[in-house]
Amino acid sequence: MSHFNAERVRADTPALTRVINGRPITYLDSGASSLPPRTVIEAMDEYYRLRHANVHRGVYQTAIEATDAYEGARAAIAQFLNAPGGSEGVVFTKNCTEAFNLLAKSWGAANLKDGDAVLLTEMEHHANIVPWFQLRETIDLDIRFIPVNDLFELDLTAIHDLLKGVKLLSLTAMSNVLGTVNPVQELATLAHAQGALVAVDAAQSVGHMPTDLVELDVDFMMFSGHKMLGPTGIGVFWARPEILATMPPFLGGGGMIADVRTDGYTPATGFTRFEAGTPMIAEAVGLHAAVRYLEGLGLDNVQTHDRALTVDAISRINHQFNGRVRIIGPTAHDNRGGVISLDVDGVHPHDIAQVLDEIGVCVRPGHHCAKPLMRRFGLAATARASFGPYSLTSDTDALLEGLQRAITFFG
Ligand code: ALA
Repeated sequence: MSHFNAERVRADTPALTRVINGRPITYLDSGASSLPPRTVIEAMDEYYRLRHANVHRGVYQTAIEATDAYEGARAAIAQFLNAPGGSEGVVFTKNCTEAFNLLAKSWGAANLKDGDAVLLTEMEHHANIVPWFQLRETIDLDIRFIPVNDLFELDLTAIHDLLKGVKLLSLTAMSNVLGTVNPVQELATLAHAQGALVAVDAAQSVGHMPTDLVELDVDFMMFSGHKMLGPTGIGVFWARPEILATMPPFLGGGGMIADVRTDGYTPATGFTRFEAGTPMIAEAVGLHAAVRYLEGLGLDNVQTHDRALTVDAISRINHQFNGRVRIIGPTAHDNRGGVISLDVDGVHPHDIAQVLDEIGVCVRPGHHCAKPLMRRFGLAATARASFGPYSLTSDTDALLEGLQRAITFFG
């Protein structure tokens, strides 16, 4: 039985009560960061008011409660992802970017050698590109890219050649620019058949569609809390526990050791090895509440809702602007999520975003940390609208009003 009701999600989201420039806020930037529901904010508030203490150290009541809350969040994430091995593979990081750095600088540095190849895609976020280039400064790494075709999808015609000799395929589940949803499961099967491991950037997908690690059969996954209705400052790096067990530590310090002597140290085992220093406890509590909230909505329902909004927005944009506004992303709706990048002929994306702000509409202009993809399509930037579970068709109405205003103003 579905309990999904976008109006109710909206009522649960305090940030959507804001009035900007005399208009109710139209928040179309969930791809950059989503707005947390009251339950997330209250969970963090309650934690700080009543239960805050450091974790994994104290023996007193609140320290035990804080540890239980922190580890409870890990268990909830594992369950949410249907992670093989449960909590054992879940490492909390600062964000998705840090999770990619952990992958490249720990697993990558330990397992890749001169001449090895990693395969990325042309639609990756810089978080899944720059750490590999940084690793290439120390080893002679062959970094390849699956191209993107004119339909804004991965061009898989040469995939068998591209996969030859590859040790890791690392790709996004959903492009933060195009909205394209990639065939992760099929590609994982192909990559595994060639002996490669598979890493998935789930930053844009995990809060918008069901994720099942058993079904996907991948080896690593990373995402951020704040794009799935949770707080900033926390992300997740998941690795198959048997792979995680072989990875060297990334950051060193307190909490990640089994022993420290004057002649060296012994790292802890499991996820503990990767969580140096006091972790983001309140953020984990908030992320746990976000997971509960999303589970209450049902990720299938969220996906259906995103899809309905996207289909409606694309058809209205194409109809109303008659080619003047180009959608940089697939227009078929079965392989895309609720991220719509726009290129308005003759108007700079920053100008579009500024005119939209005048009527309270929040979109993101820029290259979206995906410069290779921008270059592929000969663009410097786009204006990107992205939906959340609280988005309504009235948000699209405001977007269209603002686009019309910008076109009229800039001619
Ligand atoms: N990666 C985030 C975005 O796409 C910040 O906006």
